[in-house]
Amino acid sequence: MANLRLALLAAAALLLSPAFAAAQLRTDYYATICPNLEAIVRGSVKYSMGQSPISAPAALRLFFHDCAVRGCDASIMIVNSNGDDEWRHPDDQSLKQEGFQTILDAKAAVDSDPQCRHKVSCADILALAARESVSQSGGPSYPVELGRYDGKISTKNSVVLPHADFNLDQLNGFFSGLGLSQTDMIALSGGHTMGAADCSFFQYRIGTDPSMDPNFAAQLGGTCVNSQSFAFLDGSTPVKFDNAYYKNLQAGRGLLGSDQVLHADVRSRGTVDYYAYDQGTFFYDFANAMTRLGRVGVKTAADGEIRRDCRFPN
Ligand code: HEM
Repeated sequence: MANLRLALLAAAALLLSPAFAAAQLRTDYYATICPNLEAIVRGSVKYSMGQSPISAPAALRLFFHDCAVRGCDASIMIVNSNGDDEWRHPDDQSLKQEGFQTILDAKAAVDSDPQCRHKVSCADILALAARESVSQSGGPSYPVELGRYDGKISTKNSVVLPHADFNLDQLNGFFSGLGLSQTDMIALSGGHTMGAADCSFFQYRIGTDPSMDPNFAAQLGGTCVNSQSFAFLDGSTPVKFDNAYYKNLQAGRGLLGSDQVLHADVRSRGTVDYYAYDQGTFFYDFANAMTRLGRVGVKTAADGEIRRDCRFPN
């Protein structure tokens, strides 16, 4: 009897573990269900990127914020009528509308194919749109594991995200909670090779942070003139996915404290220097880290669904 209980407990633990949930993911998951899926999402993201230069960085960030909270289950997309949902949490308020719109448009494009209608999860569309945002901006194209189900729950109090003033230990603590290594974290931070940040996230560093290049500080000081002001995370090539982010860090031109600390702290500097030197290794590690991020907290048919409208549980 005790043995049976032990066996049942072991089976239950296996079912709950991320490794087991991830086991259902396959790159060819929709091969027969929706054979044109990847081409449809590719075309839709291309259209969104043509509509706005913010779409690609916004969609990439949305994927990170989705996976980091309750796993990659599109819970970030849910709109609850009582106002208690992830996207209304202060840490998600800077997510740009263009990112959400990119996903809604891609879902509409997928559902306009009769073979695919209501068969592809919003969580998988997010993962594909993130990849497209990267590859169509000049970054790596990598196979995306698919087969996630959409979550049914989104609440404000489940939101825990890293902050722009985190030090290396805090960053590592957060990412290890997702099962990701320091190398994964440094590679994923390279997502800051695209997009922008509001002054509220970095203004406190200007003139006070010795790791910031003084010329860069002077330049930023002139940028932050009102509450709408922002700066590009990678000032040299803001719409291109490349390794300029790491070169900026070497020059003390990282925008966020959590960016610059990766070079300021000797424990992570070697990896930053390597990515600055070898873009190919950065692309390779970024693709692998995105794949691992995409396995976090994946839902199955038992605890998820294929949402018809990404904004509302069925
Ligand atoms: C390491 C911890 C991280 C911190 C502290 C952090 C923090 C931030 C902050 C404060 C912004 C500015 C938001 C705004 O003002 O609109 C931002 C933007 C952005 N983040 Fe992160 N982030 C982190 C990791 C990541 C990861 C892992 C990715 C994706 C792989 C990512 C992708 C982006 C992108 C693309 C933007 C630009 C968004 C836009 O232009 O709309 N970030 N991040």
